[in-house]
Amino acid sequence: MEERLQKWIANQGILSRRKAEEAILQGKVTVNGKLVTELGTKVDGAKDIVTYEGKVIQKQEQKVYILLNKPIGYVTTVQDQFKRDTVMDLVKDCRCKVVPVGRLDMYTSGALILSNDGDFIYEVTHPKHEITKTYTVTVKGIVTQEEKEKLEKGVEIENYVTRPALVKILKTDTEKNISRIEITIHEGKNRQVRKMCEAIEKKVLALHRSKIAGIGVKDIPLGKWRYLSREEVEKIRK
Ligand code: URA
Repeated sequence: MEERLQKWIANQGILSRRKAEEAILQGKVTVNGKLVTELGTKVDGAKDIVTYEGKVIQKQEQKVYILLNKPIGYVTTVQDQFKRDTVMDLVKDCRCKVVPVGRLDMYTSGALILSNDGDFIYEVTHPKHEITKTYTVTVKGIVTQEEKEKLEKGVEIENYVTRPALVKILKTDTEKNISRIEITIHEGKNRQVRKMCEAIEKKVLALHRSKIAGIGVKDIPLGKWRYLSREEVEKIRK
């Protein structure tokens, strides 16, 4: 897509629009090897090579943050050695080089963030970040008040005691012998929710991450995604 040279330079984050205009007028900018001093010049960032003071301006990829409602059956990897379906197949239409931020098990559905912003990924996946995640879990059996409190206080999973969690019993069905509970945690040990349920001897029948940092996926159909707003990205970063 063509755009004005000064605007394109400013978008790469090296000069303000005004400074870029000055640089063009001062003969400090070339496009495809030719000196350009006209402010009306248009460039196509995808193919044109622009230099400023003799150095090629590296193209900045726009930072992208997306929220996917992952269906079960997809693995959270960029490439899978067993050729299974990956979450990348679901975000192809974004045409951006995003990668998953954190992970969801193959048989877990729900909120998964993907981004191409390396700083953001580093920040929010750091164990210190304590991002809040809410899960809806369907388990076999009836979850008692006592078990709910155990989950809330912390249970032992492989020599680790889970940190305080918020647990709600959403539904118990004695006829079908199943319960639906909601668990909110601020940590993310591998398969944590499944292991927490194992610790109270309940078999997980279905696991869905309904919210991440308080942002829900109920308005996104399974397998679809949407861009996160700037406010949402800030909320996740906090
Ligand atoms: N806890 C799990 O057990 N699995 C997930 O995918 C996420 C949290």
